[in-house]
Amino acid sequence: MVERAFDLVVRGGLVATAAEVFEGDIGILGGRIVALGRGLSAGREEVSARGMIVTPGGLDPHCHLEELGQDGSVHEESFASGSAAALAGGTTSFICFLPQWKGHSLAASAPGYEARAARSRCDYSFHQIITDPTPEVLEREIPALIARGVRSLKVFLTYDPLRLDDAQLIQVLAVARRHQAFVTIHAENYEAIGWRIDALLKAGLTDPLQHAWSRPPVVEREATHRAIALAELVDQPVQIFHVSCEEAAEEIARARARGVKVWGETCPQYLTLSHDDLQGPDFAGAKAVCSPALREKGENEKVWRRILDGTLDVVSSDHCGFSFATAKRAPGSGGYGMGSANLRADGTPAFNAIPNGVPGIETRLPVLFSEGVSKGRIDLPHFVRLSSANAARLFGLAGRKGSLMPGADADIVIWDPDAERTIRNADLHHAIDYTPWEGFAVKGFPHVTIAGGKVAVRGGEVLAQPGDGRFLARGAYDTAKPSGRVPDGFDAASAG
Ligand code: URP
Ligand code: ZN
Ligand code: ZN
Repeated sequence: MVERAFDLVVRGGLVATAAEVFEGDIGILGGRIVALGRGLSAGREEVSARGMIVTPGGLDPHCHLEELGQDGSVHEESFASGSAAALAGGTTSFICFLPQWKGHSLAASAPGYEARAARSRCDYSFHQIITDPTPEVLEREIPALIARGVRSLKVFLTYDPLRLDDAQLIQVLAVARRHQAFVTIHAENYEAIGWRIDALLKAGLTDPLQHAWSRPPVVEREATHRAIALAELVDQPVQIFHVSCEEAAEEIARARARGVKVWGETCPQYLTLSHDDLQGPDFAGAKAVCSPALREKGENEKVWRRILDGTLDVVSSDHCGFSFATAKRAPGSGGYGMGSANLRADGTPAFNAIPNGVPGIETRLPVLFSEGVSKGRIDLPHFVRLSSANAARLFGLAGRKGSLMPGADADIVIWDPDAERTIRNADLHHAIDYTPWEGFAVKGFPHVTIAGGKVAVRGGEVLAQPGDGRFLARGAYDTAKPSGRVPDGFDAASAG
C-alpha cells in the first residue's frame, strides 16, 4: 500500500495569500497546512481547485451570537446556526462577545455562555465586553481572562446599559496596556444621540430612517476623535469598530499619520447599503437599522477609498441575530437600542427601540469578494488581508489563521470566481428571517470551505457538525507588523 504524505491535497488552484498570488497545491496533514508547492504527491483525499481561487478561510473578528441581554432578550442566532452560516460564506473562524451585565462581575454575567459556544461548527474566540469596570473587574477578572487567551476587550461609548464614560474608558485602556490586551471601541457620542432622539420623537418622527437622523456622521466623528485621543494618552493600541463614514475614517487616518496606534474596521453594510435601505413599506427599513447608522448613497465609495489607502484594514460582519418578526414586536433590544421603547399606532417600535444590528456572517465575504475583487476595486492579496490576515495579527492569531503557510491551521476557501448568485434569505444558513442584501447580485462564491483540514462545506451543503469548532486561546496583538499601509512616522519599536 502506498503511504500518503497528506490527509488532503487542494490541487491546482490560483493560491492567494496576504502578499502574493501563485498557482500551486496545498498539502494538509493533521488539520494543519504542511506543504505548499507544485506537483505535491497524492493525498488520501483530493479536492480539485482548477480554475478556482484559493484563499485562507475568513476570520470574522466581530459578530454577535446567542448574546443574552440584561433585559432578557437574546440574539436569536445560535452558535450552531451562526457557524453553519459562517462556513457557508467562507468564514472558518470568528470572534464574538462575552457580555458583562451592569452591576455584575464578568463571571456572573450571561451564565453558560461559553458552554453554548462550544456548539460552534468552526473555531471561535471571544472579546470581553466591559460595561462596569469595578476594581474587581479591572484588577482581578480582566487579568485572569487574558491569562486564558481572551486578549481583547470591547467598550461602548453609547447605548444606555453598555456605555462607559471617559474616566471608565481610561481605566480600561490602562488595564489593557498593563496586560497587553487589545481594545476595540464602539465610538458614537451618547449625549448627542439622546438629544437628537428626543427632538425627533417630540416632532413625531418615528420611522426607521430617523434612526440615521438621530446619529449623523458628526456624532461618530466626535467619539472616534475622543477615543483615539484617550488611547494616545494611555499609549494603548485600539481598533475603532464599524467605521461607517469618511468623517470617522479621517480621524483615524490623521492619528495614524502621527504615529498613534489605532486601526479601523468597517463592514459590508457601510460599503454597499445606504439610507435607501432604511425606507420601504411595512416597516421594512427596520431590517437595516444598525449603529453607526447607514449613510447617504454615495458615502459608500468614500469608505472604499479608506480601504484602499489602508486606514480601514479589517472588514467584519458585525452579525446580529435579531429577526424582523422579533424587531417588529419590540420586546427589548438586548441593550442595543437607545431610550424607552415607544410604540407607534400600529404596534411597531419607534426607531430608537428597534434592536440595532444586521445579520451578515454568511454574506460578508461573498459581498466583499464581489464588490471588491470581481469589480476590480481590490486585488486578491488585499482581499485576504481584509477578510482574515489583518484581523489575525491584531487579535493574536497570526501564523495560525489568515495564512496558507506551513504550520497554519488548514482553513481554506476555494472560490469559484465566475459563479453568479443573487442573495436570497431562503438560501442562507443563518437562523434569521431576513437579509438586508435580499436580491443583491454577487459574482464569485465559495465552492468548497475547508476547516481544520476537513471539507466543511461543499456545494452549499454544510458538513461540519456542532461541536467541531475549537476555542482559540489568543496571543498578544501584533503591532510590530502593523497591518495595511505603514503610516508615516509609525514607531514600531515603542508599540505595545
Ligand atoms: O448595530 C449594531 N452594530 N449592533 C451590534 C452591536 C454593536 O454595536 O456592535
Ligand atoms: Zn458596536
Ligand atoms: Zn457589534
